[in-house]
Amino acid sequence: MPKQVDFLVVGSGIAGLTFATKAAKYGKVSVLTKKRKADSSTNYAQGGIAAVFGKEDAPEYHIADTIKAGEGLCHNDAVATMVREGPALVKELHSMGCRFSMNSNGNFDLGREGGHSKRRIVHAKDFTGQEIERVLLEETKKVGVIISENEIALDLLIQNGDCLGIYYLDADTRQIDVIYANATVLATGGVGQVYQHTTNPPIATGDGIAMAYRAGAMIANMEFVQFHPTAVYNIKIDGRSFLISEAVRGEGGVLKTKDGIAFMEKYAPAGNLAPRDVVARACLSEMIATNAKYVLLDVSHLQADFIKNRFPTIYETCLSWGIDITREPIPVVPAAHYLCGGIFVNEWAESSIPRLFALGECSCTGVHGANRLASNSLLEALVFASRASERVKKINDIHPTEKLHIRKSAKTGPNLMFQIKEIMDENVGLIRNEKTLLTAKATIDKFQACFEDGIHIINAESRNTSVIAQIIIESALERKESRGLHYMTDFPKKNSKYCSDTIKHIDVKHD
Ligand code: FAD
Ligand code: SIN
Repeated sequence: MPKQVDFLVVGSGIAGLTFATKAAKYGKVSVLTKKRKADSSTNYAQGGIAAVFGKEDAPEYHIADTIKAGEGLCHNDAVATMVREGPALVKELHSMGCRFSMNSNGNFDLGREGGHSKRRIVHAKDFTGQEIERVLLEETKKVGVIISENEIALDLLIQNGDCLGIYYLDADTRQIDVIYANATVLATGGVGQVYQHTTNPPIATGDGIAMAYRAGAMIANMEFVQFHPTAVYNIKIDGRSFLISEAVRGEGGVLKTKDGIAFMEKYAPAGNLAPRDVVARACLSEMIATNAKYVLLDVSHLQADFIKNRFPTIYETCLSWGIDITREPIPVVPAAHYLCGGIFVNEWAESSIPRLFALGECSCTGVHGANRLASNSLLEALVFASRASERVKKINDIHPTEKLHIRKSAKTGPNLMFQIKEIMDENVGLIRNEKTLLTAKATIDKFQACFEDGIHIINAESRNTSVIAQIIIESALERKESRGLHYMTDFPKKNSKYCSDTIKHIDVKHD
Protein backbone atom coordinates (compact mmCIF):
# COMPACT_ATOMS: atom_id res chain seq x y z
CA MET A 1 0.00 0.00 0.00
CA PRO A 2 1.55 3.36 -1.04
CA LYS A 3 1.81 5.99 1.70
CA GLN A 4 0.53 8.82 -0.48
CA VAL A 5 -1.78 8.86 -3.50
CA ASP A 6 -3.69 11.47 -5.43
CA PHE A 7 -7.11 9.98 -4.74
CA LEU A 8 -7.92 7.57 -1.96
CA VAL A 9 -11.18 5.65 -2.16
CA VAL A 10 -12.63 3.74 0.79
CA GLY A 11 -15.05 1.08 -0.46
CA SER A 12 -15.35 -1.13 -3.53
CA GLY A 13 -19.07 -1.04 -4.33
CA ILE A 14 -20.63 0.76 -7.30
CA ALA A 15 -19.83 4.22 -5.87
CA GLY A 16 -16.16 3.67 -5.04
CA LEU A 17 -15.39 1.69 -8.19
CA THR A 18 -17.16 4.10 -10.54
CA PHE A 19 -15.19 6.98 -9.07
CA ALA A 20 -11.91 5.02 -9.16
CA THR A 21 -12.22 3.97 -12.80
CA LYS A 22 -13.01 7.53 -13.91
CA ALA A 23 -10.56 9.40 -11.67
CA ALA A 24 -7.69 7.18 -12.83
CA LYS A 25 -7.46 9.50 -15.86
CA TYR A 26 -6.43 12.34 -13.55
CA GLY A 27 -4.06 10.76 -11.04
CA LYS A 28 -3.01 7.80 -8.99
CA VAL A 29 -5.99 6.11 -7.29
CA SER A 30 -5.91 3.64 -4.41
CA VAL A 31 -8.97 1.72 -3.26
CA LEU A 32 -9.13 0.25 0.23
CA THR A 33 -11.79 -2.26 1.10
CA LYS A 34 -12.40 -3.96 4.40
CA LYS A 35 -13.11 -7.51 3.20
CA ARG A 36 -12.95 -9.03 -0.26
CA LYS A 37 -13.38 -6.81 -3.33
CA ALA A 38 -16.95 -7.81 -4.11
CA ASP A 39 -18.20 -7.78 -0.49
CA SER A 40 -20.68 -4.92 -0.83
CA SER A 41 -24.41 -4.23 -0.97
CA THR A 42 -23.91 -3.54 -4.66
CA ASN A 43 -23.17 -7.20 -5.24
CA TYR A 44 -26.64 -8.19 -3.94
CA ALA A 45 -28.74 -5.57 -5.75
CA GLN A 46 -31.57 -7.34 -7.52
CA GLY A 47 -34.20 -5.05 -9.05
CA GLY A 48 -31.99 -2.79 -11.16
CA ILE A 49 -31.21 0.82 -12.03
CA ALA A 50 -33.97 3.33 -12.70
CA ALA A 51 -33.27 5.33 -15.86
CA VAL A 52 -35.37 6.93 -18.55
CA PHE A 53 -35.22 4.82 -21.72
CA GLY A 54 -38.87 3.91 -22.34
CA LYS A 55 -40.69 5.37 -25.34
CA GLU A 56 -43.52 6.55 -23.10
CA ASP A 57 -41.18 7.86 -20.42
CA ALA A 58 -39.50 11.27 -20.00
CA PRO A 59 -37.08 12.78 -17.45
CA GLU A 60 -39.93 14.95 -16.12
CA TYR A 61 -41.89 11.83 -15.09
CA HIS A 62 -38.92 10.25 -13.31
CA ILE A 63 -38.18 13.56 -11.56
CA ALA A 64 -41.82 13.91 -10.50
CA ASP A 65 -42.03 10.32 -9.17
CA THR A 66 -38.82 10.75 -7.18
CA ILE A 67 -39.93 14.05 -5.66
CA LYS A 68 -43.37 12.67 -4.82
CA ALA A 69 -41.88 9.73 -2.92
CA GLY A 70 -39.46 12.07 -1.08
CA GLU A 71 -42.39 13.82 0.67
CA GLY A 72 -41.12 17.41 0.52
CA LEU A 73 -37.47 16.78 1.41
CA CYS A 74 -35.89 16.06 -1.99
CA HIS A 75 -33.38 18.58 -3.27
CA ASN A 76 -35.00 19.15 -6.62
CA ASP A 77 -31.84 20.24 -8.45
CA ALA A 78 -30.00 17.12 -7.31
CA VAL A 79 -32.92 14.95 -8.46
CA ALA A 80 -32.91 16.59 -11.91
CA THR A 81 -29.14 16.12 -12.18
CA MET A 82 -29.42 12.44 -11.29
CA VAL A 83 -32.29 11.75 -13.67
CA ARG A 84 -30.77 13.64 -16.61
CA GLU A 85 -27.18 12.43 -16.27
CA GLY A 86 -28.04 8.82 -15.34
CA PRO A 87 -29.01 7.22 -18.67
CA ALA A 88 -25.65 7.99 -20.36
CA LEU A 89 -23.83 6.31 -17.45
CA VAL A 90 -26.10 3.26 -17.61
CA LYS A 91 -25.30 2.99 -21.33
CA GLU A 92 -21.61 3.27 -20.48
CA LEU A 93 -21.92 0.29 -18.09
CA HIS A 94 -23.62 -1.62 -20.90
CA SER A 95 -20.84 -0.79 -23.31
CA MET A 96 -18.26 -1.92 -20.73
CA GLY A 97 -19.88 -5.36 -20.95
CA CYS A 98 -22.64 -5.32 -18.33
CA ARG A 99 -25.12 -7.96 -19.48
CA PHE A 100 -28.41 -6.16 -18.90
CA SER A 101 -31.56 -8.02 -19.95
CA MET A 102 -32.67 -6.96 -23.44
CA ASN A 103 -36.00 -7.31 -25.24
CA SER A 104 -36.52 -8.77 -28.69
CA ASN A 105 -36.06 -5.30 -30.28
CA GLY A 106 -32.56 -5.06 -28.84
CA ASN A 107 -33.56 -2.43 -26.26
CA PHE A 108 -33.27 -2.65 -22.48
CA ASP A 109 -36.01 -4.84 -21.01
CA LEU A 110 -37.48 -2.30 -18.59
CA GLY A 111 -38.91 -3.55 -15.29
CA ARG A 112 -41.48 -1.91 -13.05
CA GLU A 113 -41.18 -1.10 -9.33
CA GLY A 114 -43.19 0.70 -6.66
CA GLY A 115 -43.72 4.46 -7.01
CA HIS A 116 -42.51 4.56 -10.64
CA SER A 117 -45.25 5.69 -13.01
CA LYS A 118 -43.50 4.04 -15.99
CA ARG A 119 -41.45 0.97 -16.75
CA ARG A 120 -37.89 2.24 -16.31
CA ILE A 121 -35.85 -0.34 -14.38
CA VAL A 122 -32.82 -1.51 -16.36
CA HIS A 123 -31.82 -4.89 -14.93
CA ALA A 124 -29.78 -8.04 -15.42
CA LYS A 125 -32.53 -10.55 -14.55
CA ASP A 126 -32.49 -10.49 -10.71
CA PHE A 127 -28.71 -10.21 -10.27
CA THR A 128 -28.15 -6.67 -11.52
CA GLY A 129 -25.71 -5.71 -8.77
CA GLN A 130 -23.50 -8.75 -9.22
CA GLU A 131 -23.21 -7.96 -12.92
CA ILE A 132 -22.34 -4.29 -12.27
CA GLU A 133 -19.77 -5.22 -9.61
CA ARG A 134 -18.16 -7.75 -11.99
CA VAL A 135 -17.84 -5.24 -14.81
CA LEU A 136 -16.53 -2.43 -12.61
CA LEU A 137 -13.92 -4.70 -11.02
CA GLU A 138 -12.74 -5.67 -14.50
CA GLU A 139 -12.61 -2.01 -15.50
CA THR A 140 -10.48 -1.07 -12.48
CA LYS A 141 -7.96 -3.70 -13.59
CA LYS A 142 -7.92 -2.27 -17.12
CA VAL A 143 -7.21 1.27 -15.93
CA GLY A 144 -4.58 0.17 -13.42
CA VAL A 145 -6.38 0.89 -10.14
CA ILE A 146 -5.11 -1.28 -7.31
CA ILE A 147 -7.63 -2.50 -4.77
CA SER A 148 -6.27 -3.51 -1.36
CA GLU A 149 -8.45 -6.03 0.44
CA ASN A 150 -8.75 -6.53 4.21
CA GLU A 151 -7.78 -2.91 4.94
CA ILE A 152 -10.19 -1.29 7.37
CA ALA A 153 -10.42 2.50 7.41
CA LEU A 154 -10.64 3.57 11.04
CA ASP A 155 -10.63 7.35 11.17
CA LEU A 156 -10.01 10.42 9.04
CA LEU A 157 -6.76 12.31 9.25
CA ILE A 158 -7.54 16.00 9.58
CA GLN A 159 -4.96 18.78 9.60
CA ASN A 160 -5.72 22.51 9.65
CA GLY A 161 -9.35 21.69 8.87
CA ASP A 162 -8.59 19.67 5.71
CA CYS A 163 -8.93 15.93 5.29
CA LEU A 164 -5.49 14.66 4.35
CA GLY A 165 -6.19 10.93 4.33
CA ILE A 166 -7.03 8.17 6.76
CA TYR A 167 -5.82 5.91 9.52
CA TYR A 168 -6.41 2.29 8.60
CA LEU A 169 -5.90 -1.17 9.99
CA ASP A 170 -4.34 -3.97 8.01
CA ALA A 171 -6.60 -6.82 9.13
CA ASP A 172 -3.93 -9.44 8.33
CA THR A 173 -0.98 -7.87 10.18
CA ARG A 174 -3.09 -6.00 12.79
CA GLN A 175 -0.94 -2.89 12.15
CA ILE A 176 -2.41 0.62 12.01
CA ASP A 177 -0.98 2.92 9.38
CA VAL A 178 -1.68 6.24 7.68
CA ILE A 179 -2.26 6.98 4.01
CA TYR A 180 -2.23 10.54 2.63
CA ALA A 181 -4.25 11.74 -0.34
CA ASN A 182 -5.11 14.98 -2.12
CA ALA A 183 -8.76 13.86 -2.04
CA THR A 184 -10.28 11.21 0.21
CA VAL A 185 -13.48 9.58 -1.00
CA LEU A 186 -15.76 7.70 1.40
CA ALA A 187 -17.89 5.10 -0.40
CA THR A 188 -18.49 2.76 2.52
CA GLY A 189 -22.16 1.95 1.92
CA GLY A 190 -25.09 1.73 4.33
CA VAL A 191 -25.92 1.00 7.95
CA GLY A 192 -28.29 -1.99 7.78
CA GLN A 193 -26.22 -4.00 10.25
CA VAL A 194 -27.28 -1.59 13.01
CA TYR A 195 -30.44 -3.75 12.92
CA GLN A 196 -30.90 -7.45 13.59
CA HIS A 197 -33.07 -7.97 10.54
CA THR A 198 -31.52 -6.47 7.43
CA THR A 199 -31.01 -7.25 3.78
CA ASN A 200 -27.53 -5.66 3.99
CA PRO A 201 -24.34 -7.74 4.13
CA PRO A 202 -22.07 -7.62 7.23
CA ILE A 203 -19.90 -4.80 5.80
CA ALA A 204 -22.82 -2.35 6.20
CA THR A 205 -21.87 -0.93 9.59
CA GLY A 206 -21.89 2.77 8.72
CA ASP A 207 -18.10 3.15 9.06
CA GLY A 208 -17.69 6.10 6.68
CA ILE A 209 -20.54 8.05 8.25
CA ALA A 210 -19.21 7.41 11.77
CA MET A 211 -15.69 8.46 10.72
CA ALA A 212 -16.96 11.65 9.09
CA TYR A 213 -19.14 12.47 12.12
CA ARG A 214 -16.23 12.02 14.52
CA ALA A 215 -14.19 14.38 12.34
CA GLY A 216 -16.88 17.09 12.49
CA ALA A 217 -18.59 16.64 9.09
CA MET A 218 -22.25 17.49 8.64
CA ILE A 219 -24.48 14.41 8.63
CA ALA A 220 -28.07 14.64 7.36
CA ASN A 221 -31.43 12.87 7.60
CA MET A 222 -30.34 9.79 9.53
CA GLU A 223 -33.88 9.12 10.79
CA PHE A 224 -34.87 8.02 7.28
CA VAL A 225 -33.97 4.32 7.32
CA GLN A 226 -35.83 2.42 4.64
CA PHE A 227 -37.34 -0.96 5.52
CA HIS A 228 -37.90 -3.21 2.53
CA PRO A 229 -41.30 -4.92 2.84
CA THR A 230 -40.25 -8.31 1.51
CA ALA A 231 -37.29 -10.12 3.06
CA VAL A 232 -37.68 -13.87 3.52
CA TYR A 233 -38.94 -14.67 7.03
CA ASN A 234 -36.60 -16.34 9.51
CA ILE A 235 -33.80 -17.41 7.15
CA LYS A 236 -30.42 -15.67 6.95
CA ILE A 237 -27.46 -16.11 4.63
CA ASP A 238 -24.13 -14.88 6.02
CA GLY A 239 -25.75 -12.41 8.40
CA ARG A 240 -28.29 -10.94 5.97
CA SER A 241 -31.95 -11.63 5.31
CA PHE A 242 -32.58 -12.71 1.72
CA LEU A 243 -34.45 -10.09 -0.32
CA ILE A 244 -37.38 -10.78 -2.60
CA SER A 245 -37.08 -7.96 -5.12
CA GLU A 246 -39.80 -5.37 -5.54
CA ALA A 247 -39.59 -6.28 -9.24
CA VAL A 248 -41.45 -9.47 -8.27
CA ARG A 249 -44.48 -7.32 -7.38
CA GLY A 250 -43.74 -5.27 -10.51
CA GLU A 251 -44.39 -8.44 -12.54
CA GLY A 252 -47.61 -9.28 -10.70
CA GLY A 253 -46.63 -10.65 -7.26
CA VAL A 254 -49.36 -10.15 -4.64
CA LEU A 255 -49.01 -9.63 -0.89
CA LYS A 256 -51.45 -11.68 1.17
CA THR A 257 -52.11 -12.37 4.83
CA LYS A 258 -51.12 -15.69 6.33
CA ASP A 259 -54.69 -16.80 5.54
CA GLY A 260 -54.31 -15.94 1.86
CA ILE A 261 -56.23 -12.65 1.71
CA ALA A 262 -54.75 -9.94 -0.56
CA PHE A 263 -54.54 -6.70 1.43
CA MET A 264 -52.60 -3.93 -0.35
CA GLU A 265 -55.62 -2.48 -2.20
CA LYS A 266 -57.08 -1.33 1.09
CA TYR A 267 -53.94 0.67 1.94
CA ALA A 268 -53.14 2.49 -1.32
CA PRO A 269 -54.63 2.98 -4.80
CA ALA A 270 -51.35 1.68 -6.29
CA GLY A 271 -51.85 -1.54 -4.29
CA ASN A 272 -48.81 -3.83 -4.34
CA LEU A 273 -46.83 -1.15 -6.17
CA ALA A 274 -47.31 1.64 -3.65
CA PRO A 275 -44.07 3.28 -2.39
CA ARG A 276 -42.02 1.14 -0.05
CA ASP A 277 -42.83 2.93 3.22
CA VAL A 278 -46.55 2.41 2.63
CA VAL A 279 -46.15 -1.27 1.72
CA ALA A 280 -43.79 -2.01 4.63
CA ARG A 281 -46.13 -0.43 7.19
CA ALA A 282 -49.11 -2.23 5.65
CA CYS A 283 -47.30 -5.57 6.04
CA LEU A 284 -46.57 -4.78 9.68
CA SER A 285 -50.19 -3.76 10.35
CA GLU A 286 -51.45 -7.01 8.81
CA MET A 287 -48.97 -9.05 10.83
CA ILE A 288 -50.23 -7.39 14.01
CA ALA A 289 -53.91 -7.70 13.00
CA THR A 290 -53.63 -11.39 12.14
CA ASN A 291 -51.22 -12.17 14.98
CA ALA A 292 -48.76 -13.59 12.45
CA LYS A 293 -44.99 -13.42 12.25
CA TYR A 294 -45.02 -12.84 8.48
CA VAL A 295 -47.18 -12.08 5.47
CA LEU A 296 -47.11 -13.97 2.17
CA LEU A 297 -45.86 -12.91 -1.24
CA ASP A 298 -47.54 -14.94 -3.94
CA VAL A 299 -46.39 -15.37 -7.55
CA SER A 300 -47.78 -18.87 -8.03
CA HIS A 301 -50.42 -17.52 -10.48
CA LEU A 302 -47.66 -16.42 -12.93
CA GLN A 303 -46.22 -18.74 -15.60
CA ALA A 304 -43.58 -21.00 -14.03
CA ASP A 305 -41.19 -20.56 -16.96
CA PHE A 306 -41.47 -16.80 -16.76
CA ILE A 307 -40.64 -16.85 -13.03
CA LYS A 308 -37.64 -19.14 -13.50
CA ASN A 309 -36.23 -17.04 -16.31
CA ARG A 310 -36.94 -13.56 -14.91
CA PHE A 311 -36.01 -14.30 -11.27
CA PRO A 312 -33.51 -17.18 -11.37
CA THR A 313 -31.66 -16.23 -8.16
CA ILE A 314 -34.85 -15.84 -6.15
CA TYR A 315 -36.34 -19.04 -7.57
CA GLU A 316 -33.21 -21.14 -6.90
CA THR A 317 -32.54 -19.67 -3.46
CA CYS A 318 -36.11 -20.22 -2.25
CA LEU A 319 -36.09 -23.73 -3.72
CA SER A 320 -32.93 -24.53 -1.75
CA TRP A 321 -35.01 -23.78 1.37
CA GLY A 322 -37.84 -25.99 0.20
CA ILE A 323 -40.08 -23.17 -1.13
CA ASP A 324 -41.11 -23.67 -4.77
CA ILE A 325 -42.31 -20.16 -5.59
CA THR A 326 -43.99 -21.32 -8.79
CA ARG A 327 -46.40 -23.31 -6.60
CA GLU A 328 -46.53 -21.71 -3.16
CA PRO A 329 -46.25 -18.26 -1.54
CA ILE A 330 -43.11 -16.96 0.19
CA PRO A 331 -43.29 -15.95 3.88
CA VAL A 332 -41.87 -12.40 4.06
CA VAL A 333 -41.27 -9.64 6.61
CA PRO A 334 -39.99 -6.05 6.47
CA ALA A 335 -36.23 -5.64 7.07
CA ALA A 336 -33.84 -2.68 7.29
CA HIS A 337 -32.62 -2.08 3.76
CA TYR A 338 -31.34 1.39 2.90
CA LEU A 339 -30.29 4.68 4.49
CA CYS A 340 -31.59 7.84 2.81
CA GLY A 341 -29.43 10.08 4.99
CA GLY A 342 -25.66 10.17 5.38
CA ILE A 343 -22.69 12.48 4.94
CA PHE A 344 -24.14 15.75 3.68
CA VAL A 345 -22.66 16.62 0.27
CA ASN A 346 -23.16 19.14 -2.51
CA GLU A 347 -23.85 18.41 -6.19
CA TRP A 348 -20.16 17.45 -6.68
CA ALA A 349 -20.19 15.04 -3.72
CA GLU A 350 -18.05 17.36 -1.58
CA SER A 351 -18.67 17.10 2.16
CA SER A 352 -18.46 19.97 4.63
CA ILE A 353 -14.78 19.06 5.28
CA PRO A 354 -12.44 20.28 2.52
CA ARG A 355 -10.87 17.45 0.45
CA LEU A 356 -13.39 14.92 1.79
CA PHE A 357 -15.93 13.49 -0.67
CA ALA A 358 -18.75 11.02 0.03
CA LEU A 359 -20.50 8.83 -2.53
CA GLY A 360 -23.26 6.27 -2.76
CA GLU A 361 -25.26 5.08 0.22
CA CYS A 362 -23.01 6.72 2.85
CA SER A 363 -23.73 10.14 1.34
CA CYS A 364 -26.78 12.38 1.45
CA THR A 365 -27.09 14.24 -1.85
CA GLY A 366 -30.72 15.10 -1.19
CA VAL A 367 -32.10 13.01 -4.05
CA HIS A 368 -34.12 10.65 -1.85
CA GLY A 369 -35.67 13.08 0.61
CA ALA A 370 -37.79 11.23 3.17
CA ASN A 371 -38.19 8.06 1.10
CA ARG A 372 -36.12 6.55 -1.70
CA LEU A 373 -37.81 5.29 -4.80
CA ALA A 374 -36.77 1.75 -5.74
CA SER A 375 -33.68 1.47 -7.95
CA ASN A 376 -32.70 5.13 -7.56
CA SER A 377 -29.77 4.18 -5.34
CA LEU A 378 -27.51 2.59 -7.93
CA LEU A 379 -28.35 5.51 -10.21
CA GLU A 380 -27.42 8.10 -7.56
CA ALA A 381 -24.11 6.32 -6.90
CA LEU A 382 -23.23 6.27 -10.61
CA VAL A 383 -24.08 9.91 -11.25
CA PHE A 384 -22.43 11.51 -8.23
CA ALA A 385 -19.32 9.29 -8.44
CA SER A 386 -18.90 10.43 -12.00
CA ARG A 387 -19.35 14.09 -11.01
CA ALA A 388 -16.84 13.75 -8.15
CA SER A 389 -14.27 12.33 -10.57
CA GLU A 390 -14.59 15.51 -12.64
CA ARG A 391 -14.23 17.69 -9.54
CA VAL A 392 -11.03 16.09 -8.20
CA LYS A 393 -9.09 16.73 -11.37
CA LYS A 394 -8.82 20.36 -10.24
CA ILE A 395 -7.70 19.58 -6.70
CA ASN A 396 -4.19 20.72 -5.76
CA ASP A 397 -1.55 18.78 -3.86
CA ILE A 398 -1.49 18.58 -0.09
CA HIS A 399 1.49 19.68 1.94
CA PRO A 400 1.08 18.18 5.40
CA THR A 401 2.74 20.45 7.93
CA GLU A 402 4.14 17.41 9.65
CA LYS A 403 4.10 13.80 8.63
CA LEU A 404 1.72 12.22 11.08
CA HIS A 405 2.39 8.87 12.54
CA ILE A 406 0.20 6.92 14.87
CA ARG A 407 -0.30 9.55 17.48
CA LYS A 408 -3.69 8.29 18.52
CA SER A 409 -3.60 5.36 20.86
CA ALA A 410 -4.93 2.05 19.60
CA LYS A 411 -7.51 0.64 21.98
CA THR A 412 -9.74 -2.35 22.16
CA GLY A 413 -13.43 -1.81 22.74
CA PRO A 414 -16.21 -4.21 23.71
CA ASN A 415 -18.31 -6.03 21.12
CA LEU A 416 -21.77 -4.56 21.56
CA MET A 417 -23.14 -5.33 18.09
CA PHE A 418 -25.74 -7.81 19.26
CA GLN A 419 -27.09 -5.52 21.99
CA ILE A 420 -27.19 -2.51 19.64
CA LYS A 421 -29.12 -4.47 17.01
CA GLU A 422 -31.64 -5.71 19.54
CA ILE A 423 -32.26 -2.20 20.90
CA MET A 424 -32.62 -0.72 17.42
CA ASP A 425 -35.02 -3.45 16.22
CA GLU A 426 -37.21 -3.09 19.29
CA ASN A 427 -37.28 0.69 19.59
CA VAL A 428 -36.17 2.42 16.40
CA GLY A 429 -37.79 0.31 13.68
CA LEU A 430 -40.48 0.93 11.11
CA ILE A 431 -42.70 2.52 13.75
CA ARG A 432 -41.32 4.62 16.62
CA ASN A 433 -42.45 7.03 19.32
CA GLU A 434 -40.75 9.31 21.77
CA LYS A 435 -40.86 6.74 24.55
CA THR A 436 -39.18 3.97 22.52
CA LEU A 437 -36.61 6.41 21.16
CA LEU A 438 -35.72 7.67 24.64
CA THR A 439 -35.44 4.09 25.91
CA ALA A 440 -32.99 3.30 23.11
CA LYS A 441 -31.08 6.55 23.67
CA ALA A 442 -30.46 5.83 27.36
CA THR A 443 -28.73 2.53 26.55
CA ILE A 444 -26.85 3.71 23.47
CA ASP A 445 -25.51 6.74 25.37
CA LYS A 446 -24.02 4.34 27.93
CA PHE A 447 -22.47 2.25 25.17
CA GLN A 448 -20.97 5.36 23.59
CA ALA A 449 -19.05 6.06 26.78
CA CYS A 450 -17.13 2.79 26.26
CA PHE A 451 -15.69 4.12 23.02
CA GLU A 452 -14.37 7.53 23.97
CA ASP A 453 -10.94 8.63 22.74
CA GLY A 454 -8.46 6.64 20.76
CA ILE A 455 -8.77 4.50 17.69
CA HIS A 456 -10.41 1.18 18.36
CA ILE A 457 -8.81 -1.56 16.37
CA ILE A 458 -10.68 -4.37 17.97
CA ASN A 459 -14.42 -4.02 17.48
CA ALA A 460 -14.08 -0.91 15.32
CA GLU A 461 -17.45 -1.83 13.80
CA SER A 462 -19.07 -1.91 17.23
CA ARG A 463 -17.73 1.59 17.86
CA ASN A 464 -19.15 2.75 14.52
CA THR A 465 -22.59 1.15 14.84
CA SER A 466 -22.92 2.68 18.28
CA VAL A 467 -22.32 6.18 16.82
CA ILE A 468 -24.72 5.47 13.96
CA ALA A 469 -27.42 4.27 16.34
CA GLN A 470 -26.95 7.42 18.40
CA ILE A 471 -27.31 9.73 15.37
CA ILE A 472 -30.36 7.85 14.06
CA ILE A 473 -32.07 8.10 17.45
CA GLU A 474 -31.21 11.78 18.01
CA SER A 475 -32.35 12.71 14.50
CA ALA A 476 -35.58 10.76 14.96
CA LEU A 477 -36.25 12.49 18.29
CA GLU A 478 -35.92 15.89 16.63
CA ARG A 479 -38.49 15.15 13.95
CA LYS A 480 -41.79 15.31 15.82
CA GLU A 481 -43.95 14.34 12.84
CA SER A 482 -44.46 11.44 10.46
CA ARG A 483 -43.02 11.86 6.99
CA GLY A 484 -41.96 9.22 4.46
CA LEU A 485 -39.97 6.51 6.18
CA HIS A 486 -40.10 8.17 9.61
CA TYR A 487 -43.36 7.16 11.31
CA MET A 488 -44.02 8.31 14.90
CA THR A 489 -47.16 6.92 16.54
CA ASP A 490 -47.37 9.97 18.81
CA PHE A 491 -47.00 12.41 15.88
CA PRO A 492 -48.82 10.52 13.10
CA LYS A 493 -49.21 13.53 10.76
CA LYS A 494 -46.83 15.48 8.56
CA ASN A 495 -46.05 18.94 9.97
CA SER A 496 -44.81 21.71 7.64
CA LYS A 497 -42.60 23.01 10.47
CA TYR A 498 -40.31 20.03 9.81
CA CYS A 499 -40.05 20.39 6.04
CA SER A 500 -36.24 20.60 6.09
CA ASP A 501 -33.20 18.35 6.48
CA THR A 502 -32.14 17.18 9.94
CA ILE A 503 -28.46 18.06 10.30
CA LYS A 504 -26.17 16.61 12.96
CA HIS A 505 -22.58 17.47 13.60
CA ILE A 506 -20.16 17.92 16.46
CA ASP A 507 -17.52 20.60 16.98
CA VAL A 508 -14.19 18.88 16.96
CA LYS A 509 -10.84 20.22 18.07
CA HIS A 510 -8.27 18.42 15.92
CA ASP A 511 -4.88 17.78 17.45
P1 FAD B 1 -21.61 -0.77 -1.11
O1 FAD B 1 -21.92 -1.41 -2.38
O2 FAD B 1 -22.25 -1.31 0.11
O3 FAD B 1 -20.02 -0.82 -0.90
C1 FAD B 1 -19.45 -0.36 0.31
C2 FAD B 1 -17.99 -0.73 0.29
O4 FAD B 1 -17.30 -0.10 1.37
C3 FAD B 1 -17.72 -2.24 0.46
O5 FAD B 1 -16.69 -2.59 -0.43
C4 FAD B 1 -17.24 -2.35 1.90
O6 FAD B 1 -16.44 -3.45 2.17
C5 FAD B 1 -16.46 -1.05 2.03
N1 FAD B 1 -16.25 -0.58 3.40
C6 FAD B 1 -17.18 -0.31 4.34
N2 FAD B 1 -16.58 0.13 5.47
C7 FAD B 1 -15.24 0.13 5.23
C8 FAD B 1 -14.09 0.46 6.01
N3 FAD B 1 -14.17 0.87 7.26
N4 FAD B 1 -12.87 0.34 5.44
C9 FAD B 1 -12.73 -0.12 4.16
N5 FAD B 1 -13.80 -0.45 3.39
C10 FAD B 1 -15.03 -0.33 3.91
N6 FAD B 1 -30.46 -0.27 -5.09
C11 FAD B 1 -30.91 -0.05 -6.34
O7 FAD B 1 -30.82 1.07 -6.85
N7 FAD B 1 -31.43 -1.10 -7.07
C12 FAD B 1 -31.55 -2.35 -6.57
O8 FAD B 1 -32.00 -3.24 -7.25
C13 FAD B 1 -31.10 -2.58 -5.24
N8 FAD B 1 -31.24 -3.81 -4.68
C14 FAD B 1 -30.69 -4.02 -3.45
C15 FAD B 1 -30.72 -5.31 -2.90
C16 FAD B 1 -30.11 -5.56 -1.69
C17 FAD B 1 -30.15 -6.94 -1.11
C18 FAD B 1 -29.47 -4.51 -1.00
C19 FAD B 1 -28.79 -4.76 0.32
C20 FAD B 1 -29.46 -3.23 -1.50
C21 FAD B 1 -30.07 -2.98 -2.73
N9 FAD B 1 -30.07 -1.69 -3.29
C22 FAD B 1 -30.54 -1.50 -4.55
C23 FAD B 1 -29.31 -0.62 -2.65
C24 FAD B 1 -27.95 -0.53 -3.33
O9 FAD B 1 -27.51 -1.81 -3.66
C25 FAD B 1 -26.93 0.13 -2.44
O10 FAD B 1 -27.43 1.34 -1.93
C26 FAD B 1 -25.67 0.44 -3.26
O11 FAD B 1 -25.20 -0.73 -3.87
C27 FAD B 1 -24.62 1.03 -2.36
O12 FAD B 1 -23.44 1.15 -3.09
P2 FAD B 1 -22.17 1.77 -2.39
O13 FAD B 1 -21.07 1.69 -3.38
O14 FAD B 1 -22.52 3.07 -1.81
O15 FAD B 1 -21.89 0.79 -1.14
C1 SIN C 1 -35.39 -4.57 -4.94
O1 SIN C 1 -34.99 -5.23 -5.89
O2 SIN C 1 -36.53 -4.65 -4.45
C2 SIN C 1 -34.46 -3.59 -4.33
C3 SIN C 1 -34.50 -2.39 -5.14
C4 SIN C 1 -33.96 -1.24 -4.38
O3 SIN C 1 -33.68 -1.32 -3.19
O4 SIN C 1 -33.84 -0.19 -5.02
